[in-house]
Amino acid sequence: MCGIVGYLGNKEAYPILIKGLHRLEYRGYDSAGVALVNSSSDLKVYKTKGKVADLESYTKGKDVSGTIGIAHTRWATHGEPNNVNAHPHYSQSESLALIHNGIIENYAVIKEDLIKRGYKFQSDTDTEVLVQLIEYIKNTNKIGLCQAVQLALTQAVGAYAIAVIEKGNPNQIIAARKSSPLVIGIGDDEFFLASDATPIIEYTNRVIYLDDEEVAIIRRGEEVHIKTLANVEKTHEVKELELSLNELEKGGFPHFMLKEIYEQPKRIAEAMRGRINVEANSVALAGVIDNKEKFLNARRILIVACGTSWHAGLIGEYLLEEFARIPVEVEYASEFRYRNPIINKGDIVIAISQSGETADTLAAIELARNAGAFVYGICNVVGSSIPRNTDSGSYTHVGPEIGVASTKAFTAQVTVLSLIALTIAHLKGTIEPDRYQELIKELASIPAKMIRTLEVNAQIKDFASIFTYAKNFIYLGRGYNYPVALEGALKLKEISYIHAEGYPAAEMKHGPIALIDAEMPVVVIAPNKGMYEKTISNIQEVKARKGRVISIITEGDETVKKLSDYTIEIPETEECFVPLLASIPLQLMAYHIAVVKGCNVDQPRNLAKSVTVE
Ligand code: M6R
Repeated sequence: MCGIVGYLGNKEAYPILIKGLHRLEYRGYDSAGVALVNSSSDLKVYKTKGKVADLESYTKGKDVSGTIGIAHTRWATHGEPNNVNAHPHYSQSESLALIHNGIIENYAVIKEDLIKRGYKFQSDTDTEVLVQLIEYIKNTNKIGLCQAVQLALTQAVGAYAIAVIEKGNPNQIIAARKSSPLVIGIGDDEFFLASDATPIIEYTNRVIYLDDEEVAIIRRGEEVHIKTLANVEKTHEVKELELSLNELEKGGFPHFMLKEIYEQPKRIAEAMRGRINVEANSVALAGVIDNKEKFLNARRILIVACGTSWHAGLIGEYLLEEFARIPVEVEYASEFRYRNPIINKGDIVIAISQSGETADTLAAIELARNAGAFVYGICNVVGSSIPRNTDSGSYTHVGPEIGVASTKAFTAQVTVLSLIALTIAHLKGTIEPDRYQELIKELASIPAKMIRTLEVNAQIKDFASIFTYAKNFIYLGRGYNYPVALEGALKLKEISYIHAEGYPAAEMKHGPIALIDAEMPVVVIAPNKGMYEKTISNIQEVKARKGRVISIITEGDETVKKLSDYTIEIPETEECFVPLLASIPLQLMAYHIAVVKGCNVDQPRNLAKSVTVE
């Protein structure tokens, strides 16, 4: 949800900012803009509707000099995506320029007050209100920019990561955050700021993560100063990034999404590394072991998440209830946070998030912690807000996921949930030792089976074009594969814009069956495990109404093959691990259909990778 980037140093800022915007474009791509202070201390703003590439075309031949600048790529909240609503926003006198990621909820009240005081507004955004307020406070109180930002932000309700620069001052950036991410990179005589570390890693691996309601004063030739809004000095540990630059490139793949699908065997192995030991027949997840008593005594586990992470949570429910025998409820974080949920002493809340910045999940965590729950995070982005706001947790360790449609993060979340379930089950004795060993061995074999599963890519690519005609798809699965059906449907709709619904297969006859005709593709996850026979009956029901069945089957299953129009084979595995394999052909199917339809796979319309607003 909007990416912000800033630079202050000895190099030309513009190329660094543009490169940074490209890295952050996954956060939003409705418009892009840059503000620079040049050597004559002039403040210039260039911005345009569209992508970063459009900004580059727009600035061709213009003066983009300067060794200090800020830049923005937008996911529109207030005001349609157009040139005027693009960031950076000037203050009225054009002496300040500001970029913002977040939402200022009380912008209307502040705007009305400023209008009464003679301020004129150009845009429909909440952000412009902030820059005007800062200017108003600065001028009326005759104070410096930092103090004006501090005072303005005490009036702002909502979420923000901002950066401000001013005309006549090529030596200072003021940045601040609350509930939106902000990382400051510290190089040799140069500073960077960004929504995440990806624009920074090329130049330095030394970073500071700002906390909520903190302001960073970044000045040429000085250390970074951090203060609270109330002007209390803060010191922050400088952290070392573990990110590598080639993780941010497509590595020869046409899209990040395809690269990330193909990375799954390696990444899932990394998610298990040091946590699973087949020789010793053991699983040891530090976060769970360190909080053994809490997990052993847990009366209930509440899982909160959004989107794909919520689907992983549903699989977690099956895993934890089957093996650890703890009752589990899975909630959309956005519902949980507003419905006054009952949180009992002894409840554990598990928050799942790839980005670690999802606003609703963060709010659910805050609610749970205030109610006294022990909160455990499952997160991918190291140093993001969720791991910093939970009591304990596990990283998924899949490296940066850049395609907006989540793929490797999902399978890694399911892997970590499997490890949690097995660790607790073993500690509690709710699993037979032999069964525990079988499952450990099988889980360890999943990366190799994923490599075999990926061999279906050519087959899926071949038949994908047949289904581009479809306006609707149905996805069916039972048990562990019901969430897989939901996830398959979500992948298809978000990148190919084909409407798709996932259902527990048996629910079909309670309504959705009315939709089935000869035009309707029905994807059925039908491995030879669990409710295999019952799933076959559901396929028969679809065929009886002339639906076109695409089934995901276990290698060699001739029965379902005969009933289906298309079959995709996956290796045999334990029922509880089928989601780790079955989701791969569904990811590939969505990918190839979207590619044939000419959709922008990595940056689908209206979406952003990191949803930092409610
Ligand atoms: O970063 P998070 O896992 O918290 O994000 C949650 C959802 O926004 C995310 O999974 C979204 O649904 C993806 N676009 C799905 O592909």
